[in-house]
Amino acid sequence: MFLTRDQERMLEGENGDAVRKSMELLVALGEVFGAEKLVPIESAHISGVSYKNLGDAGTEWLEEQAELGSRCRVRATLNPAGMDMEKWEEMNVPPEFAEGQVRVIEAFKRMGVEPTCTCTPYLIGHVPRMGAQVAWAESNAVCFSNSVIGARTNRESGPTTLASAVTGLTPLYGYRLDENREPGKIVEVGTEMKTRLDYSALGYVTGKTLGNAVPYFRGLGSPDLESMKTLGAACATSGGVALWHGEGVTPEAGWAAGHLDGVEKVTVECSDLEEARERLVCDPSNPTYCVGCPHCSLREMAETAELAKGRDLGGRLWVFTSRGVYQEAARAGHVETIEKAGGRVYSDTCMVVAPLHEMGWEGVATNSFKGGYYSVAHGFETMITTLDKLVEGASR
Ligand code: F3S
Repeated sequence: MFLTRDQERMLEGENGDAVRKSMELLVALGEVFGAEKLVPIESAHISGVSYKNLGDAGTEWLEEQAELGSRCRVRATLNPAGMDMEKWEEMNVPPEFAEGQVRVIEAFKRMGVEPTCTCTPYLIGHVPRMGAQVAWAESNAVCFSNSVIGARTNRESGPTTLASAVTGLTPLYGYRLDENREPGKIVEVGTEMKTRLDYSALGYVTGKTLGNAVPYFRGLGSPDLESMKTLGAACATSGGVALWHGEGVTPEAGWAAGHLDGVEKVTVECSDLEEARERLVCDPSNPTYCVGCPHCSLREMAETAELAKGRDLGGRLWVFTSRGVYQEAARAGHVETIEKAGGRVYSDTCMVVAPLHEMGWEGVATNSFKGGYYSVAHGFETMITTLDKLVEGASR
């Protein structure tokens, strides 16, 4: 792989051990994937934040990186942690877990990472330019960034995003190149998309059918931001989709339409969406009702508050969002409305990366196929339904 003289110096350790180690990782990655060179990135979004996944070994590794002098050269934000950093006791998170989680966040802060703790950085002002090279992890954020914003990233990991943040560089391969952004399959949507849950189900079916091919959707209707967020999250979960095009919807769809010759077509019908829902779920006896996978937008907070009004949710409805959106929702009165009805609103964490078993959860109900998929994988009886039914279900 070609390196500039400056990059060679970074690799030789002239900018310190932290930069050298990060360069070693990126060069090795580039060589595995046949990258010609490294390119500058404009920002990073780093995953691997929950103490649940990191444990002591991962936490110590992060502390070592901070000690070694790793410092971000570009803007870097952080994925959700395993708990609300302020209300963790109320969540019933064990103190020893909280202690580990605080160490993780402190290590990231020392490296200059913004402790945003959200999987929707694009809802709190971290929005790259169209065409910008970025190094983002977290599959829904990757999908949104590539597809809806038109920035360019591969499905990065925690260590590679940190290495890119520290060097400001990434190897040029995969979705960073035009040829890998061409459609792999045309997906004809043969049913009217009525609810956001329909988009989530469509994403789930598409990912299952296509694996990691790039879908070119026809007949998506007019999805709002929240529908595109949940669509991408689901197809990145059931398959390895990192980029989708939507005819008349996403910014590169016009360009992608010029590359459809000979591309195979599949059709998704209403019955496919129904079947997906039935296959994935059962009827849990004592579920926690969860909203916010991916993290809620301000509009979803407002909708949830409206539905919660006058109900008795008895602590059964849990709403997850970023701290940035939480603050806006608090100012608008949505947090108070939800809490007055007996719902709970948490920031910094989510229904998948928190230590749910230790917190005493028995089952999960959600309006997200991504959330549902992981709940089943973590051994919870799971139900997937629309937001209004979810709030109704939580209500006694
Ligand atoms: Fe976000 Fe957690 Fe879902 S990280 S996409 S809320 S699994």
